[in-house]
Amino acid sequence: MALISRRARTLAGEGSVPGDKSISHRALIVGSVAVGETRITGLLEADDVLRTVDALRALGARIDRDADGVWRVFGRGVGGLAEPASVLDMGNSGTGARLLMGLLATHPFTSFFTGDASLSARPMDRVMTPLRRMGATISARSGDRLPLMIRGTAGPLPIVYELPVASAQVKSAVLLAGLNTPGTTSVVEPQPTRDHSELMLRHFGAEVAVERLDGGGRAIMLAGQPEITGRHVVVPGDLSSAAFPLVAALLVPGSRLTLSRVGINALRSGLLETLGEMGAGIAIADRRTEGGEPAADLTVEAGPLRGVEVPPERAPSMIDEYPVLAVAAACAEGVTRMTGLGELRVKESDRLGAMARGLEACGARVEEGPDALTVHGTGRAPRGGARIAVERDHRIAMAFLVLGMVAAEPVAIDDAGPIETSFPGFAGFMNGLGARVAAEDAP
Ligand code: S3P
Repeated sequence: MALISRRARTLAGEGSVPGDKSISHRALIVGSVAVGETRITGLLEADDVLRTVDALRALGARIDRDADGVWRVFGRGVGGLAEPASVLDMGNSGTGARLLMGLLATHPFTSFFTGDASLSARPMDRVMTPLRRMGATISARSGDRLPLMIRGTAGPLPIVYELPVASAQVKSAVLLAGLNTPGTTSVVEPQPTRDHSELMLRHFGAEVAVERLDGGGRAIMLAGQPEITGRHVVVPGDLSSAAFPLVAALLVPGSRLTLSRVGINALRSGLLETLGEMGAGIAIADRRTEGGEPAADLTVEAGPLRGVEVPPERAPSMIDEYPVLAVAAACAEGVTRMTGLGELRVKESDRLGAMARGLEACGARVEEGPDALTVHGTGRAPRGGARIAVERDHRIAMAFLVLGMVAAEPVAIDDAGPIETSFPGFAGFMNGLGARVAAEDAP
């Protein structure tokens, strides 16, 4: 369905965004190979995560949802999953596909993975390389694209793997493969990436050591074949989803918004730092730890923003937030220059190209480099008045709906379907705060 977003008067209220997508995948996956029952509260019930549920069920894990929304996973123990009878269709989910490939690399049976057009265009060699080194056999279309076949090894080798790209998905794939590997599996990351896997594995009782390296990197060491047992996991709200209402409330004059229990893991919260540097008023209250992850209530008030330089080393901690940051930058006063964005080209879409084209179509002045984006803000929202092709990318869709909330002319998106992968009910949630998002052909 196509949606159109018109200028909002103000956005106000309190609410909570759906559960963290990264943590939801990990709770299900680790729960499936723990011994006994895992209860998950606040799981993100969106397409990406439900694909992981279906895949784990096909692999023999029993997963139930109680009437009160609590999910129960009955784990089969480390190495205890069984060969699936059907193809694992991961839909749009890069995280689901890559993490499960890791897990299955050390289960001695054959699995087939497929996905939608967006996922089938994304590179898988980044996980294939280390998983082959551990002993898995992988054969993929065009060398490194889905659909692919993976045959896990019965005699896995522990490796020390230095990440060639700053990717938590690759790190997690190697660590999950390391679960059913004797000895110590190590990942060295020159730039720290989100550590949800490390925290989740520890929460379940695995031994994960982290060493800080000179130059800011980290080495993560997992002791293989641990006895992990079912736990209770409380999933905080997803900061990557909260980013859209937060930025919208910063931009629409007179707005004030509180979002409760949002995850604020330091390796995920680069957006809050950047918005702070742009002059945003964001109050962080009631900090707490839920299931090993830090969470807090966030309150924002609308106010003027100024352009900033966003350094490349911040990219891993706000990688999914660049689309909405670019919208904020287009409304700020002055130039915002974002560098080190090469990874944005291989997300659900080429996000760098999609943002540059879309913002230009809405009247903003932007320059796109191979791995950089410069946005020339004028202190006023760009005109709007464009229809954006979202290319099966949920974050592109939501970013342009946010722009429509503040632009003089409405902004339309050609397909709201992808939003279901991470933020079901987004339009209704925003409208509840005062936004005006509607079906494009509504009267
Ligand atoms: C994720 C890691 C990031 C992020 C993705 C979720 C994860 O991808 O973009 O949405 O849950 O590990 P990369 O690890 O490929 O950067």
